[in-house]
Amino acid sequence: MLRSFLKTITLGLFVTATLAGPGRAADDPNACKIAKDGDNDIVKACKAGGIKRAKMVMKAMSKAVKEKGMKVECDSCHKNEEDWALTKDGPDKFKKMEALMKDEAAPAKK
Ligand code: HEC
Repeated sequence: MLRSFLKTITLGLFVTATLAGPGRAADDPNACKIAKDGDNDIVKACKAGGIKRAKMVMKAMSKAVKEKGMKVECDSCHKNEEDWALTKDGPDKFKKMEALMKDEAAPAKK
């Protein structure tokens, strides 16, 4: 009796976890909606840990390029922090940021 009860609970938990898992990302608030294609660091971060992780990586990138003389804030490229919609020149700025990240030896410009 108790055993089958436990079995039901375990099964129930398993099903819930499966339904809420990464397979059903459509209404997951942590799911990335923009960075889904390509293989830049943000797309990778989104795949690994959704918005939360993407934020961390974006913060790290912003800091890294700041040290190289490119001044950016989140709102230089994002219109808001709800859906992270990009500004008109957001994608271009991002490309510059990526180039700067790759170019380890770049001297800091003021
Ligand atoms: C230089 C421009 C730029 C700056 C500065 C920037 N971002 Fe981004 N961010 C982008 C671009 C472009 C993408 C989409 C990348 C892609 O589609 O490959 C993105 C994607 C994201 C995403 C994923 C959104 C989604 O739904 O896919 C999050 C979250 C995010 N940025 C947070 C931040 C935060 C937090 C900051 C500040 C610390 C920040 N960004 C600063 C350009 C920028």
